[in-house]
Amino acid sequence: LTLPKPIVLIAEELSPATVSALGPDFEIKNIDGTDRKALLSALATADAILVRSATQVDAEAIAAAKQLKVIARAGVGLDNVDIKAATAAGVMVVNAPTSNIVSAAELAIGHLLSLARHIPDANASLKGDKWERNKFTGVELYDKTIGIVGLGRIGSLVAQRLSGFGARLIGYDPYISPAKAEQMGVSLASLDEVMEQSDFITIHIPKTAETTGLIGVDQFAKAKKELRIVNCSRGGIIDEDALLEALTTNRIAGAGLDVFNNEPPKGSPLLSLPNILVTPHLGASTEEAQEKAGISVAKSVRLALAGDLVPDAVNVAGGQIDESVRPGISMAEKLGQLVFGMADASLVSIEVEVRGEIVVHDVSVLKLAALKGVFQNAVTEQVSYVNAPLLAEQRGVEIKLTTDLVSEEYRNMTTIRAVLSDGSVISASGTVIGPKRHEKIIGINGYDVELAFAENLVLMVYADRPGIVAVYGKAFADAKVNIAAMQIARQQKGGKALSV
Ligand code: NAI
Ligand code: 3PG
Repeated sequence: LTLPKPIVLIAEELSPATVSALGPDFEIKNIDGTDRKALLSALATADAILVRSATQVDAEAIAAAKQLKVIARAGVGLDNVDIKAATAAGVMVVNAPTSNIVSAAELAIGHLLSLARHIPDANASLKGDKWERNKFTGVELYDKTIGIVGLGRIGSLVAQRLSGFGARLIGYDPYISPAKAEQMGVSLASLDEVMEQSDFITIHIPKTAETTGLIGVDQFAKAKKELRIVNCSRGGIIDEDALLEALTTNRIAGAGLDVFNNEPPKGSPLLSLPNILVTPHLGASTEEAQEKAGISVAKSVRLALAGDLVPDAVNVAGGQIDESVRPGISMAEKLGQLVFGMADASLVSIEVEVRGEIVVHDVSVLKLAALKGVFQNAVTEQVSYVNAPLLAEQRGVEIKLTTDLVSEEYRNMTTIRAVLSDGSVISASGTVIGPKRHEKIIGINGYDVELAFAENLVLMVYADRPGIVAVYGKAFADAKVNIAAMQIARQQKGGKALSV
């Protein structure tokens, strides 16, 4: 019997390196993600989808995708993916956050220089057999004030590149510290100050509810007449009506746009203005960026479809995973399954306790893995690292992660302690031992044990007296159940005993 290969949809033009990096383990289908009907129908059987910015992976698309495990954005901006809907459906969302940042930064510099020196218009003029030297007199960047809106990955690369031009750099980004900005050679300012003081502005922020229309009529009213503004981030961050007004009335000197409210911006009056320079969303369109983006998402898709955590996942709260923490992930998941199997009333709260030197690193992924294990057999929907915390929240199960550097008997130890609705508390502890990374159960409800996880485990608690093992041994034999391994523990002689 050969199992069908997982289906990976490629919904937009990606570098050929993407398919090579995906390898032979998938059935790859190419579709046009902008063809809504084709997209929804192909999503019905897809395990993964790879997109750029043109495919709308919204709530409707996600609802149509019953098998979908991962949405991979071969680029940076995620405004075309409904991350909330994906998370609720247990679908991982990944992007390629550094793949195209250099390309985007270089294009923004290209727009700034082109606006300053009229390069595109002069080129068109000369190719039209004219020699118009006076018409295309420009301005220098040197000694000018350049405002950078958004000092993240791309904004900081733009600042770095502009530092060679001898310009004064100011920046607006409410989420970075003045010291960080200073390191980039940028003085932080308010948006109003950036609008008032800048000769050039370049925008590098994501499109969110907060940033849509950030630069509108009021902001242009504050600008210098000489302002040339560039947007290579997302359409709609500059209000297009306000920009049209500012350019037609010469309120500002010029604009360079790589991105638009609607793409393509068919029939937009902006396109016919003499003082605007436009490119068709080319920020990431370089050989280097496309290759990096394609390979990066292909790797993420492989990991995600193998059930692994993905470093570039944007909707998994696991943080950076250190190598010393990684072996504990699958153990914590199994421990979660064990605890769920032990629970005979509903869960009220779950505490995941991690002990040992690994806690110097972020171990929150072990909490996620434990939750995934707990809920795996509790709900019919597919449980993933993505939706496990949500499932707990929806069920009103309180979750806590505690850590302790001290672990007396084992180098690392994870315990899941659950309070049940009848007031009882159950617990199971596990560890990962030695270079072969053996996963062991080392404690159950306060009994010390040391045994391997197995697909089928039977737990029996009884009075510690002779003859019990013979009784259940016979019962298993009569039922033709083979016992592959067994361990008996007791807390004190003559008290209760546990057989696993
Ligand atoms: P990033 O996440 O590294 O940086 C974004 C910065 O914007 C952060 O520092 C953040 O604090 C800041 N920010 C957020 N809200 C803000 C607000 N209301 N006001 C001011 N600053 C705010 O993102 P990165 O990689 O620099 O990319 C920025 C955007 O560029 C992406 O979201 C994407 O939409 C766009 N982009 C466009 C490309 C193109 O082809 N034209 C290529 C690549 C990215
Ligand atoms: C991005 O956010 O990565 C850029 O806007 C690039 O988009 P694209 O992949 O559609 O060119």
